[in-house]
Amino acid sequence: MHKLRVIFDTDPGLDDAIALLFLLGARDEIELLGVSCVAGNVGIEAVSRNARIICEWADRRDVEVYAGAARPLVRHLVTAEHVHGKTGMEGAPMHTPSMALQAAHAVDFIIDTLRREPAGTVTLCPVGPLTNIALALLKAPDIAPRIRQIVLMGGAYFAGGNVTPAAEFNFYVDPHAAQQVLHAGIPLVMLPLDVTHKACTSARRVAALASLPNHCGPLAASLLTSFERHDVKKFGQIGAPLHDPCAVAYLLDPALFQGREVNVEVETDSPLTQGHCSVDWWGTSGRASNALYITEVDADAMFARMAQAMINLP
Ligand code: RIB
Ligand code: CA
Repeated sequence: MHKLRVIFDTDPGLDDAIALLFLLGARDEIELLGVSCVAGNVGIEAVSRNARIICEWADRRDVEVYAGAARPLVRHLVTAEHVHGKTGMEGAPMHTPSMALQAAHAVDFIIDTLRREPAGTVTLCPVGPLTNIALALLKAPDIAPRIRQIVLMGGAYFAGGNVTPAAEFNFYVDPHAAQQVLHAGIPLVMLPLDVTHKACTSARRVAALASLPNHCGPLAASLLTSFERHDVKKFGQIGAPLHDPCAVAYLLDPALFQGREVNVEVETDSPLTQGHCSVDWWGTSGRASNALYITEVDADAMFARMAQAMINLP
């Protein structure tokens, strides 16, 4: 079977950690070319450490992890320790990773990989603020046509915001980067809150991971339990929306999802609504579509797919 060749761009982050374990478990379907880290949920040092810890949980010290942007393109950095804890992975068994951080900057890794690999063979899967992707496109515009597809977690429209009433966190942290990426002319799939809020944890779904006969399954279950504590309080519902794993699930099985090709514009100026996605769902703007905007998921099948992948982990 032809493997998908993926660069995973991330700001771990508890749901990022689940997504990366999910991706590492799908070793037969995905060739991970590298992990590029971006400041978001917590600062760049912490996310770069966390990404290596996650790889070591999966006994994958072969994965190349790169540190990227320490702040957004224009705005000051806003982080989310209140959700993910000071370490960025509250509740997780932390250790000092033995695998080294790669010397190159993540943006240069993205550029060099896209220039080296055959055009149209590399998929970018960003699940944090889009700063690294935007910087790579600004520094090396020639890479845009070489990108097979961008499958990103970010944005919101029908679901409203999660960091302000108007904006989802990844797009709020770096709205300029999001607008830049959305206008790069690259085939792009968005997994916004409109779909991730339909893929929530539950006692049954967490138990399915906790009962896996390995180390990473129960570990993922404990991360989910830690992750959901914030959202249960905030949304007053049982279970937390599992954002970043939706992007990995889409990579593996797009048929689990449904959406519409629409025009998406990101507000970059208004202090009240920066990061807001103006999604032209009814085609009233006359603007060209620039994203496959996903709004539906078969959540049971997605969680089953995640457990099926994670059983391959140590
Ligand atoms: O809004 C959810 C997104 O913001 C997820 O990627 C989560 O990890 C945070 O980065
Ligand atoms: Ca994230």
